[in-house]
Amino acid sequence: MTSDSDTDHTAPAIQTSRTDGVLVIEICNPPVNAASAAVRQGLVAALQTLQADADLQAGVLMGAGNTFVAGSDLREFGQPMQHPQLPAVIAAIEQCSKPVVAALHGAALGGGLELALGCDARVAQAGTQLGLPEVTLGIIPGAGGTQRLPRRTGLLQAIPLICRGERFAAAQALKLRLVDAVVDQDADLRAHAIAHALGLQGRKQRIRDEAVPAEDAAQIAAAEQAALRAGKHQPAVVAAIAALQDSARLPFDEALARERAAFEALRLSPQALALRHLFFAEREATRPPAQWAKAPDAAPRAVQTVAVIGAGTMGTGIAIAALGAGLQVVLLEQTPEALDTGLQRITSHYAGRVQAGKMGAAQASAEQERLHGSCHWPDIARADLVIEAVFEDLAVKQQVFRQIDQHARAGAVLATNTSYLDVDAIARSTQRPQDVLGLHFFSPANVMKLLEVVQGSDSTPDVLATGLQLGRRLGKLPVLCRNAFGFIGNRIYNAYRRQCEFMLEDGAWPEDVDQAMQAFGMAMGPFAVADLSGLDIAWRMRKAQAATRDPRERYVDILDTLCEQGRLGRKSGAGYYTYADGKHNPVSDDTVRAVIADASARRGIARKAIGPTTIQRRALLAMANEAALLLAQGVALRASDIDVVLAHGYGFPRWEGGPVFWTRQQDLATLTRELQALAQECGHGFVVGDLSILLQP
Ligand code: NAI
Repeated sequence: MTSDSDTDHTAPAIQTSRTDGVLVIEICNPPVNAASAAVRQGLVAALQTLQADADLQAGVLMGAGNTFVAGSDLREFGQPMQHPQLPAVIAAIEQCSKPVVAALHGAALGGGLELALGCDARVAQAGTQLGLPEVTLGIIPGAGGTQRLPRRTGLLQAIPLICRGERFAAAQALKLRLVDAVVDQDADLRAHAIAHALGLQGRKQRIRDEAVPAEDAAQIAAAEQAALRAGKHQPAVVAAIAALQDSARLPFDEALARERAAFEALRLSPQALALRHLFFAEREATRPPAQWAKAPDAAPRAVQTVAVIGAGTMGTGIAIAALGAGLQVVLLEQTPEALDTGLQRITSHYAGRVQAGKMGAAQASAEQERLHGSCHWPDIARADLVIEAVFEDLAVKQQVFRQIDQHARAGAVLATNTSYLDVDAIARSTQRPQDVLGLHFFSPANVMKLLEVVQGSDSTPDVLATGLQLGRRLGKLPVLCRNAFGFIGNRIYNAYRRQCEFMLEDGAWPEDVDQAMQAFGMAMGPFAVADLSGLDIAWRMRKAQAATRDPRERYVDILDTLCEQGRLGRKSGAGYYTYADGKHNPVSDDTVRAVIADASARRGIARKAIGPTTIQRRALLAMANEAALLLAQGVALRASDIDVVLAHGYGFPRWEGGPVFWTRQQDLATLTRELQALAQECGHGFVVGDLSILLQP
């Protein structure tokens, strides 16, 4: 799937040429050859030529530039669709009396793969990525993907492929019989496809005429159940399963019509709108703001060597991410013992990858060879970029930055991975605050895609551009934001968690809140998350803030009491829940209820049960309110960035689009009224934002 914003609409979208009686039809719609209306019109015209010209015996369909067709034009999905639509193009290929071979390279995704499956054969270059990612956008393939794909792969393979929407490579496609031949990356794809087309000797071999292979019904039912479980909350998965079932039981054209109807129904559904919103928001987030794009001093600095300070949870994860991106890494610790523990963690990460067959042994050792552990500060002198990941304590970090300042080379970029602390206060402990920025990774840092790139007051544009570029190089989704307590993500999450704590005092139990938020679609409830990450982190932060906290502010001390009782979360066997089996199964606990009831009583609250809808609404309002505040304060540069952060770092359900998208779906007047009422309930310290700011694009 693609967005088509960069398309040059003046160039002809289709170009044709002839070789040995074969019409080569080339799709020219840069950057990704999205199957836009102009492309579809051009294809139909070219197919008419192929049919009408007696000198032509076959066609080859290929993409110009570096890809076949990476998808449909997503922007069209929100509007009335123009004719001819993709199914009509595919019908024209199938109805053409001469065979058409698709020549695939780059990506054949979504509508691109459906187009290829409508052809009589497919030749792919090694490395081509194929897939039907529609369900990840809240829709199903709408141009025969659910019908033609299982005719080749069988339903057992088709169910996970379509319901998860994952990409697969040409070699896998060959095994699945989705392509007929794979040629080397440096082979002449066009020549191979022409030869393949001539080799068909005029024979049509339409997938639609094949039967779905017979497979074990019980296994199919199990695969369907597994897909439905994994795709709970997602109507597109339910519709995909239904369409796949149709493929085996209905005549082709009838099933095809039903697939299209389901696609049409989903296309404008709230979930599809939310998922498309995030799709565009994710692409937008990685672009630096317009005002920088042309600034001559905003070119990123070159980075080949990264020094990571601190080999704990985050430092080792960041090191692994950097090694995976081909960088040299110096990992610095304070003691040989701590260094050894960190290095062992990295070694066992690689051993695990190799054992699981996810990485070759040669690659694993090549990556580890670029890692240099050290306890000597002068070793960071060769780094182009230094990332600090030591304890979350301002004094410790300032001390570490003084060391970095002393040893890093002039011009090196200096980053802190702090979660909450003031980047400026850290930067100003050096003589070069202009070189300092925040790079807030998420745990595990080698897995999580989100990266907040934090602009300090003194950070220069080229330093920020270096952070953004490094993020992209590490395969991350870098989101730029300004320096403020908790940046974007932790600040919104804090507001959410605080609201959930208010609800505990007001009458809900932890499981009421967790179940309601999970029913909304959050990956986990807030109290289960707190137990998982350890309550002591928040406890320490609260203690650090105690001296400056306004005594009139409503402050829920349940967490502090639990920590005082030694309930630090899963790691200590108990937190908001008790973990009967030591770690995994949370059980609600009368001790916790007593702590909560006592907190309510001390505040003079007569506890009243709170229903799931109210819980969800209060929690979402708190998030929306904080989003409005931080957008107004310029902490987030774009409203949509907030949604990207919450969806990628905090388990916010993608199909709800994020707190900003959620707000945009509500009636503003009602929401504003509810917010006023909520502010009353929350008491002193609850700052009310102007939600209308979130409605601006
Ligand atoms: P950790 O406690 O696992 O690791 C910190 C490491 O830094 C320890 O190995 C310690 O020996 C080392 N260290 C301390 N002082 C040092 C010094 N002067 N020189 C060299 N090494 C030193 O902590 P974790 O969880 O990795 O967190 C590190 C930072 O990352 C903190 O600022 C934290 O807020 C932030 N962070 C943590 C996340 C998490 O989920 N754990 C997520 C995002 C950010």
